[in-house]
Amino acid sequence: TDALKIGIAGLGTVGAALFGAITTRHNLLTDICGREIRIIAVSARDRSRDRGINLDGIAWFDDPVTMARDADIDVYVELIGGDGDPAHAAVATALERGRHVVTANKALLAKHGVALAGLAEDNGVLLNFEAAVAGGIPVIKAMRESLTGNSIQRIYGILNGTCNYILTRMQRDNMGFAECLAEAQRLGYAEADPAFDIEGNDTAHKLAILTSLAFGTQIAGDEVYIEGITNISIDDIHAADELGYRIKLLGVALRTATGIEQRVHPTMVPKGSMIAQVEGVTNAVTIEADILGELMLSGPGAGGDATASAVLGDIADIAKSRPGHQHAPALGRPVAKLEPYQRAQ
Ligand code: HSE
Repeated sequence: TDALKIGIAGLGTVGAALFGAITTRHNLLTDICGREIRIIAVSARDRSRDRGINLDGIAWFDDPVTMARDADIDVYVELIGGDGDPAHAAVATALERGRHVVTANKALLAKHGVALAGLAEDNGVLLNFEAAVAGGIPVIKAMRESLTGNSIQRIYGILNGTCNYILTRMQRDNMGFAECLAEAQRLGYAEADPAFDIEGNDTAHKLAILTSLAFGTQIAGDEVYIEGITNISIDDIHAADELGYRIKLLGVALRTATGIEQRVHPTMVPKGSMIAQVEGVTNAVTIEADILGELMLSGPGAGGDATASAVLGDIADIAKSRPGHQHAPALGRPVAKLEPYQRAQ
């Protein structure tokens, strides 16, 4: 079977981690997907920078739009970020050319997601974006697949790893805001412009995407009320602590009598609640669904490996779903023997 040919745009923290994951697990991925996943092209700004990855034999493009248009790729992976060009033009070009797109770019989806999804549909290709919300947590799959048929009343969570990291270190280690932010940047959690993290916009982008999936509405990133964490001081955190609360930056979307409300703001949560236990770069999403009940997903929400894991899952889904070909078995090889359930006498 032909290899699935990949082009990666953006070789920052996530791009380099994805490159490493695909190349070191090459044979395993081929076994699982029934088809080789091969990186044939990359695009980034600075060719000479040492990223600790071997780019021999891989086509280099200075311009991602040129890669989206001209490289012989089946999947365009968008890891540049930002809601403008070149990311927007490159994704649109790839879809128009009939290439699948996998993206971690939440800002782009919050602004142009509806149009891009339409473009994907018109061209018979997939637009996968698990990595755009809550890093490695499979919340998009949960919403799109597992919760089918449920009516959702409310969805809320900690959707920005940088902010949760800052709030956690301020509370636990008495560190100052600026020092915590610098550490989050060093660890590869923050956006290229960390104002998007601390002012709440990144949480709003992710919330807008979740809202659309949860309630079947259009993505409306500009209708989210946004208040970030820039005004939170150590004194606030200690005052909340004395009253029995933790301060968390939450994104919340819920049904009201008049429509869907979307908001992002620092929130006092009781110390004993599950959401209060979510610390550091960990994200969490709680979904109140009518058939299932209350579901909380938590896990690594930012950083190269966590985000690359979600991108890789989306790529593997495409590799397994070739139209006109037999799909790779969804359940893989059996790893354990099942015992029949013994009913109590
Ligand atoms: N800057 C983002 C965060 C990265 O801190 O959560 C993951 O989207």
